[in-house]
Amino acid sequence: MTEQTFNSATSEWYYPSDDVVKHARVPDYEAMYAEAERDLEAFWGKMASNLDWYAPWQKVLDQSQAPFYKWFVGGKINIAANALDRHVKTWRKNKLALIWEGEPGDKVTLSYWRLWKETNKFANVLRSMGVRKGDRVTIYMGRIPEIMIAMLACAKIGAVHSVVYGGFSEQALADRIEDAQSKVLVTADGAWLRGNIVRLKDTVDEAVRRSPVVETVIVVKRTGHDVTMEQGRDYWYHDLMGLPIASPNCETEVMDAEDPLFILYTSGTTGKPKGVLHTHGGYSVYTSTTLSCVFDIKDEDRYWCAADPGWITGHSYIVYAPLILGATSVLYEGAPNHPYPDRWWRIVEDYGVSILYTAPTAIRGLMRFGDNWPNRRDLSSLRLLGTVGEPINPEAWRWYNKVIGKETCPIMDTWWQTETGGFMITPMPSVPLKPGSATRPFPGIKVDVVDEHGNPVPTGEDGVLVIQQPWPGMLRTVYGDPDRYVSQYWSTYDKQGWYLTGDTARKDEDGYIWIIGRNDDVIKVSGYRLGTAEVESGLVSHPTVAESAVIAIPDEVRGNVIYAYCILRTGVERSEELKDALKDHIRHEIGPIAVPAKIEFVDALPKTRSGKIMRRVLRARAQGLPEGDTSTLEE
Ligand code: WTA
Repeated sequence: MTEQTFNSATSEWYYPSDDVVKHARVPDYEAMYAEAERDLEAFWGKMASNLDWYAPWQKVLDQSQAPFYKWFVGGKINIAANALDRHVKTWRKNKLALIWEGEPGDKVTLSYWRLWKETNKFANVLRSMGVRKGDRVTIYMGRIPEIMIAMLACAKIGAVHSVVYGGFSEQALADRIEDAQSKVLVTADGAWLRGNIVRLKDTVDEAVRRSPVVETVIVVKRTGHDVTMEQGRDYWYHDLMGLPIASPNCETEVMDAEDPLFILYTSGTTGKPKGVLHTHGGYSVYTSTTLSCVFDIKDEDRYWCAADPGWITGHSYIVYAPLILGATSVLYEGAPNHPYPDRWWRIVEDYGVSILYTAPTAIRGLMRFGDNWPNRRDLSSLRLLGTVGEPINPEAWRWYNKVIGKETCPIMDTWWQTETGGFMITPMPSVPLKPGSATRPFPGIKVDVVDEHGNPVPTGEDGVLVIQQPWPGMLRTVYGDPDRYVSQYWSTYDKQGWYLTGDTARKDEDGYIWIIGRNDDVIKVSGYRLGTAEVESGLVSHPTVAESAVIAIPDEVRGNVIYAYCILRTGVERSEELKDALKDHIRHEIGPIAVPAKIEFVDALPKTRSGKIMRRVLRARAQGLPEGDTSTLEE
């Protein structure tokens, strides 16, 4: 859907320095790829042996019920034991797990020991609230240490967490609570963003009113503003953590490798978000292996993934993989330009960040403020950079490389999805780069670019990106909807083990993959994943709107923005005020990220005879382009 603003054929090469290659964990990509190709199970078995298991697996991969693949069959493990328990028995007990900075400037550091203790305490609190293995817990808060503690505490006792991004609003939260049937919700009074308080608890109150399955709400005091606490339902986190029930010792639940770890809702082609389910075993192996190889984390690194723990990037590469590897991570609560556009660069300078992982939209946003802000800060601690979430345009890539990386930091452009759990197409520090390409698949991953019959398309032509064999970090199902799992991802081609990504891509003469964008009804706005259907049903839930169609239009900073076309109900007057009211409605129902940049009132929508909205026609019209073949157009 995103317009490609660059041409793969004329792209330049960037070669890593000899020094980078010499010190890289994987100095020879080809050799590692070949090793995985020779024996996939032996390869993943070897990677899995870097983790602590309570009991070994009997088989690495069971394909007998494909596409319900099973990894590390019979193995017993807990991701929290790997992320915390094992480190406190070593010198890492004293190592910093987390360096946190709040937007107002407050700071917290947590050693592995302290993070382990806090997690144990909260795990006991959850247990005392009746949370048991397999129960779902919804977590809804900003970027504060407690979000990590809550996630880890769930994992520790075998509960399944469902983190809902703190930027979502009432209805989005209510739907996700309802789908997961969470009886316990962990939240905060508010979050700091751009000097303002985001009133999370108010949103929770309304969401729980709409989805009353929640019996207990645990509230972290972050912003300290007045909130309503409902007696018998709402408890302060700090009160509970001060009670004897919050014992600092907690036994870790022994989990089967295939037991669920979390549900993370993501947008698909219908209005109902999909609960992508990941497990303890394969996910631990996959995220830690990929992070170790791609970001090459060493004990002396200070690693900063600037994503939000509420999205998959945060789950995999802020919370779980860095802790499994015993890394020191940085977490920052607020906006990148608060109070000044050098906030991020100051954080890099203050903490000596050596690896920075972010999204193209953030890079483009910060680039707009000019070179002086980063140039006034000492960024010499950086040695590796990364990007994720959408294609990076070469201009932003070059700026990131030159102004932030000072041309010494290889840029890891990592392509992956909520469903894949971890990096799928990605370079490693030793791999030559082309700006705008995520390069080649990770060892053990097989991908191709194909046409609608599943035949490879010629070099340089657009096609559908497919993954051709299972991998340990793959989603296991769509929570509560196994049919959707099968039909959405595994049924398009008549080939066992072919997973449909939903992306369009191109392969060049060197085998490098260029991601063009989504080919379904998913939109990426500022790197956030939204479904057109979600926004459409949000608009239609307003009493004035009869029908709506939503499209993505390319935008220089945000990647895409949303345009919405609405047919109003009979008798409703068109006005600018109504447009504002509709935007406000979306802000409340779904969240600020889903607010359309533009709303247009129309009398009819272009539809096929079968009633499907022809977004292609709308897109062409919005951009003043020819509308193409409209022979199937009904209205
Ligand atoms: C897009 C985010 C180009 C892609 C981890 C994918 C990318 C969707 C890249 C998944 C990249 C992610 N280059 N496009 N490096 N990384 N995408 O589930 O369209 O939020 O299908 O996961 O983001 O979005 P999701």
